[in-house]
Formats: sequence, structure tokens, C-alpha cells
Amino acid sequence: TRTPVNVTVTGAAGQIGYALLFRIASGQLLGADVPVNLRLLEIPQGLKAAEGVAMELDDCAFPLLRGITITDQAATAFDGANVALLVGARPRTAGMERGDLLQANGGIFGPQGKAINEHAADDIKVLVVGNPANTNALIAQRNAPDVPAERFTAMTRLDHNRAVAQLAKKTGATVGDIKKVTIWGNHSATQYPDIFHAEIAGKNAAELINDQAWLESDFIPTVAKRGAAIIEVRGASSAASAANAAIDHVYTWVNGTAEGDWTSMGIVSDGSYGVPEGLISSFPVTTKDGKFEIVQGLEISDFSRARIDASVGELVEERDAVAGLGLI
Ligand code: NAI
Repeated sequence: TRTPVNVTVTGAAGQIGYALLFRIASGQLLGADVPVNLRLLEIPQGLKAAEGVAMELDDCAFPLLRGITITDQAATAFDGANVALLVGARPRTAGMERGDLLQANGGIFGPQGKAINEHAADDIKVLVVGNPANTNALIAQRNAPDVPAERFTAMTRLDHNRAVAQLAKKTGATVGDIKKVTIWGNHSATQYPDIFHAEIAGKNAAELINDQAWLESDFIPTVAKRGAAIIEVRGASSAASAANAAIDHVYTWVNGTAEGDWTSMGIVSDGSYGVPEGLISSFPVTTKDGKFEIVQGLEISDFSRARIDASVGELVEERDAVAGLGLI
């Protein structure tokens, strides 16, 4: 029998945590034959609610769930961690400036990066979900100098999945027919969902749709502002679809992208496509055997270039701001 994989989830008592933990424990994160130990990290005020979630996890009698640890100590939560999902973050509250937001999140992701550096397993893979996800991932990564930088990733899979769904709606295709969509840049309203290399049942998506006005004033803003639209309609933020995207992100990272397709992940830039080295920015990537590679050689039109540059520019500003605050 396989040794259980240690999966750490921060913010475990939150909305996303509630939608995420049951799917991890059921085998959807890593595979239906991989047993897991769950390590739930919460702040002291969240511990009791986390205990309640753990009671429910028990009551599911998941065959793959081998243990649950609940703690407010990062050192305990990340001890021997193989996969870490960093979901808990400090949300922006009314009147909060960006500097305050970054400072507050630096106080979370800096120490968590250090704890990962000191206590996690050698094969640790980190996904940052908590916003601002790219820059929080950068803070954690820079605080974990002994961990290879490519093990720190930020989630843009929800944006990727949203883009696929919008394309399916527009064309009447099934989501399974849609391949090679790319989210570039930051997980924020500046992100650029790119369909110029996407395929719908083997045909180029942009050519097939052939509707620049739709692309510019419907598709791109709909994908980029979907989070706000969900809050407005549902009255609460998108937790189940975010949890689903986290599952997809890690599953794809570990088990590989399908032949002839790719996915989008926020990863440390190697300078590809003019994205400054070291920034955590979303790229088209293929994955295999637990490793990923940026898809190379894509032609970038002036239209795409301007949008990628705008989003990457925002990431540069965020990086400079956290550097100025001494967080990286
Ligand atoms: P939530 O507020 O329901 O839950 C957050 C949980 O994190 C709370 O239980 C809180 O006690 C905990 N927490 C706060 N600081 C912590 C720390 N230092 N250590 C451990 N736990 C801590 O929020 P929700 O809806 O679950 O969202 C979580 C984050 O995910 C937010 O930052 C949200 O903006 C982000 N998000 C990111 C998406 C993406 O696509 N990258 C999509 C949707 C949400």
C-alpha cells in the first residue's frame, strides 16, 4: 500500500476550505488510489470551525483519508508536507490601501514560506489561492530559499476554466472540445484571457468566432470580472468553483496535461515572452511527471502584447511594493 501524501490546507475553516477538503479526501486532488493525511492550518479563531469540518470529514468515511491534524502552528501544519494549498489570506476591507493589503498578507505568506522552507518534504508543491495570489506566492517563494522556485505556483486555473466555459457558451461546443486557452499575467482584473491559440474541435477559436467586438467588450471583461459578478448574483464569493480550480491545478500538475492541450498556471517567470524573470505570472504550460514547462514559440500579436504587458506591469508594481515593504 502507498504511503499517504501529506496535504496542508490553510484557511481550512473558510468557504473555499469547506468546498475543497471533501474533494481532496475523496481522492480528486491526487488520484483515486492515493491516500492522504490532511493538515489544516487556521488562525486561533478558526480552529473550532475547523474541528467541525473535521467531524464531517470523519463522517464521510473516506477510504483514502488516513488522518487529520488541526493546528494554528505553521511549523506543525507544514511538517513533512508534500502538497500545500495556501487558501487563507487577509481580504481587502473597505478603505484599505494596496500597501496595507500587501503588508497584511506579507505577515501571513512570509512566515508560511519560512515554515515551508524549514519543515516541508523535499518534493513540496505549493499552490497559492489566497489573494493577491501571484504576489502572495512570490512572498512565500522568496521566504523559502532552499525550495526550488518552480514549486511555488499561483492559481489562475479558475480564470482558465471560466474562459473555457465562456467559449463553449459562445460557440455551442462542449468544454471537452476546447483546448489551448491561455490566461496571461496576474490573477486580477488585468489578466489577459487569450483565445488566439485556442482550438475548438481542432479549429482556431479566434478565427472560428471571428468577432473582435465580442472578444474585447464581452469575453475578456466577462472572464476578468467574473468573480465580482458571482458575488453580486450569489451574494457570496465563488468558493466551490475556486475549490474546483484548485483541485484541477494540482491534479494537472501531478498527473500531466493531455496530449494536444495545455493549462494556465501562475509560475516563476524564466523571462519567456518578455515577462521579467522571477515574477510569478500566468503562462500557458504543459505538465508531465510532476514538472511543468512554459509553452514556447507562440506568436503574440500587438493586441495580445499590450494586454500581457499591462497585466505584467501590475505584477511588477506589486513586486516593487512588497520589496519596498521589506517582505521579499
Ligand atoms: P474565507 O474568508 O471564507 O476563509 C478564509 C479562511 O482563512 C478563514 O477561515 C480564516 O480564518 C483563514 N485564515 C486567515 N488568515 C489565516 C492564516 N494566517 N493562516 C491560516 N488561516 C488563515 O475566504 P474564502 O472564500 O475561503 O477565500 C480564501 C481566499 O481565496 C481569499 O483570499 C480569496 O480572495 C481567494 N480566492 C482566490 C481565487 C483565485 O482564483 N486565485 C478565487 C476565489 C477566491
